[in-house]
This record gives sequence, structure tokens and C-alpha cells, in this order.
Amino acid sequence: MSRSAHPAGPRHADVLPEGHYSAPPTDLNDLDPKVWAQTVSRDTDGVVTVGGIDVKRIAEEFGTPAYVLDEADFRARARAWRSAFGADADVFYAGKAFLSRAVVRWLHEEGLNLDVCSGGELVTALSAGMPADRIAFHGNNKSAEEIRRAVEAGVGRIVLDSFQEIVRVAHIAKELGRRQRVQIRITVGVEAHTHEFIATAHEDQKFGIPLAGGQAAEAVRRALQLDGLELIGIHSHIGSQIFDMSGFEVAAHRVVGLLKDIRDEHGVELPEIDLGGGLGIAYTSDDDPREPHEIAKALTEIVTRECEGARLRTPRISVEPGRAIVGPTAFTLYEVGTVKPLDGLRTYVSVDGGMSDNIRTALYDAEYSVALVSRTTDAEPMLARVVGKHCESGDIVVKDAFLPSDLAPGDLIAVPATGAYCRSMASNYNHVLRPPVVAVNDGEARVIVRRETEEDLLRLDVG
Ligand code: LLP
Repeated sequence: MSRSAHPAGPRHADVLPEGHYSAPPTDLNDLDPKVWAQTVSRDTDGVVTVGGIDVKRIAEEFGTPAYVLDEADFRARARAWRSAFGADADVFYAGKAFLSRAVVRWLHEEGLNLDVCSGGELVTALSAGMPADRIAFHGNNKSAEEIRRAVEAGVGRIVLDSFQEIVRVAHIAKELGRRQRVQIRITVGVEAHTHEFIATAHEDQKFGIPLAGGQAAEAVRRALQLDGLELIGIHSHIGSQIFDMSGFEVAAHRVVGLLKDIRDEHGVELPEIDLGGGLGIAYTSDDDPREPHEIAKALTEIVTRECEGARLRTPRISVEPGRAIVGPTAFTLYEVGTVKPLDGLRTYVSVDGGMSDNIRTALYDAEYSVALVSRTTDAEPMLARVVGKHCESGDIVVKDAFLPSDLAPGDLIAVPATGAYCRSMASNYNHVLRPPVVAVNDGEARVIVRRETEEDLLRLDVG
């Protein structure tokens, strides 16, 4: 990502410190549609609204911090993925990005399937009425109990992640008198990083069975021999927050190569391939994600071309986007508590949440943007760092951002693109209570995940 260290433009200090920030925006009141949920805009008073409701009302009614999720945007993105891939493919929303019962119902209604990776996600999906045959069950260390529940429920597929798991699932399925549909997750030797991919030692990780050295082929051999299993396909997931399609191209090439080897050795053409998730979204204005229809076209073309080359019937493709569906649909609404200018450095803006509601900045050095949302301003931009209330100096929500120099306690600010992997990775660090998720749609706001309470904390503490 190209970002200038010393942007020109108005600023609160004579010398700007080193950092990764773009030039100050020309208008601090602008809301870049790339990073904000679709229905976000400013009303005539300058207050930001989403789903037809202004953020001041949301703050009054539900408190801060709060994740505010635009239901219409979520549904629109889910639909866009569904229609981009069409009837000959399946879209499995990756529940790890954010899962709640309301979300499961929206997905069901919009015709998407669901990828779960734990007993907890499975029970959430089933309890909200997702048909079991539309659920894929993932994980590198599923417990025997989780496998049993998944098989009993009748999940559409279990994605096998190791040699031991092949035997484990086959055994449990047989015990239950079932033949479980499974895919085998392989690692294709492509390592995808944020904004790039490097074709190196991706096998050196805990997920999947390496294609290298014939291990994946051996896994297929074993799975085909076991009565309890119906092997329906091969799975590959190359990473997350990816913009470059070439990693998928290499993955598809290698997965299809394996399908061809399977056909040649066993006379079986596996009917499905899953290319995982990982498609990137815009966290800041510098990111340029692709649209679902472009991704669908690119992936379908790659697989079709590779299969033609190998003289294979084109298998049914599935994908597992998580972030690309839910990420852009939510923002985190915070109230400013203190504003601390440090001369010659930057201004520290402390909010009422922090690393407990967004660990991604501390964990991955993730970049976010931020805006004042409770009013407009014509003040000069100041270089700011948005920090939380935790007892830790790494408790940073937005590392480098420009906020108006008239920012004051009580102002509401919002961090966009926090729909994915923020609530789902939230913690109780410092016994800070996890914020609610408030869904807004068509002038109505409702809590879909409630705020944690002190009673919730104390209920678990049984000593
Ligand atoms: N399929 C599989 C098998 C996965 O492991 C993942 C993500 C996905 C699909 C969905 O990937 P997505 O489209 O959401 O990128 N906590 C990290 C991301 C970890 C993703 C793990 N697996 C973050 O906050 O960026």
C-alpha cells in the first residue's frame, strides 16, 4: 500500500512524526462510500445516519460502544455473491467473520450456505433454522463430540483436515449408520498475504494436508476406501484479505491437477471443488477490492480452463467469503472520552472501547479509518491516534488518522469496516463488557447481539 510518511496540508504540529498515513482529507466531513456501509450518509444537520437512523439516536438508545450493522447492505452483498456465482455454484458465508442468529436467518433467506468451524457456530446455525445440508463443518481439530453432532445433524459436508480426522469421521459416521459427505482440505503451496501472495512454504502451517510429496493423494486414497465417507471434493483456502487473483489461479491449477490424478488413479471424477474465502475489502480509501461478479467470473474461468486442459468435467465450485460480505456492512460507534495532544507527535483520542472490541489493529497491524459522525466540522485536521480504555499501550484502534482539531469529549466517532472479525474476536480484557450489535434497516434499529452486562461476567465467575 503506498502511503506518504509526511503528507502536505494543514496540521496541528509543525513536524509530523513518522507514520503510515495518507495526506489529510480535503474535507473531514466526507464519508468515502468505499469504506462505509451502503446506507450511510450525513443528514441535513450533519449527523451521520445509517439505515435511516441517526447515530446520536443509536447512541442514546443503545449506548456506546456499539457495532452498528446495516442489514440492507448485508443482504445486498450476500445477494450479489449469490447471483454472481449463479445456480451452478455455492456460496458458503464464513461464520467466523461474524455469526448471530439474525445473520443466519438473513443468509438462509438470501439463498446462501454457511461454513462453521466449531460446535458453537454449528449450534448457532442450527438453532436459527439453517438447514443442516447447507452447512459445511471446518476445523483442524474438531472434537469427537463436535463431529458426532455434525454427522447426527446431517451437515452437508465435513471438511477433513488431517489423516487422523479421516479415520475419526469415518468411524463416527459408521457408528451412526451414516455415510458422511466430505471434502479434503489440501495446502497447495501458495501463501497469500495481505495485498500479495508468495509462492513459498505454505505447507508449514496447521491447516490442511499438503499436496507436496503425494500426501493429499494418499489422503484421497484412504478416504475412498472408508465406508463411512462419501468423498465429494477437494478444498483449498489460501489466506485472507487478498486482492490479487493470481493466488487463486495457482490454487485452482493445483487442485484441478489433483482431480485429474484422482481420475487417472481411481477412475473417479470428484464433483466439487471449494476455493475458500479470503477476498479483500476496503479498510481505508487506499484499498481497491473487486466486485463479486468479477471474482466469480475470474474463478469460474480459471477452473473451467484448467478442467478443459485436463479433460475433466467442470466440478461444482463453491467459495467461502466471510469478510467480503459482512466486513463493510458495520461500523463501531464510540464516544470520545479524552483528547490528549502531545506536542510534536500526535493527539491521542481515547474512546470507550478499544482492543477488546477490535483486536485487529494490535494483532495484525490492521489499518482503519475514522470519522466524526455526530456533527460536521470546519476545523483543521489533526493527526490523531484513536486508542481504547485498556491498561495497555498497544491498545490502539486506529493507528494514524486525521480527525478535526476541535474534537471534544462527548463527540461520537465511528470506525468503518468493522463487521468482520471484530465482534467475533472480541474479549473481556480488563473485564470490559463486549458491545452490542445493533442492526439497522429502513428506519428501525434492533439489537441482534445484546451488550454484555456485569451480571454476565459474574455469572461465569463461580469461585
Ligand atoms: N474459509 C476458510 C476455510 C477459512 O479459514 C476462512 C478464514 C474463510 C473461509 C473466510 O475468510 P475471509 O473471506 O473472511 O477472509 N481473524 C483474521 C482472519 C482469519 C481468517 C481465518 N479463516 C482477521 O481478522 O483478518
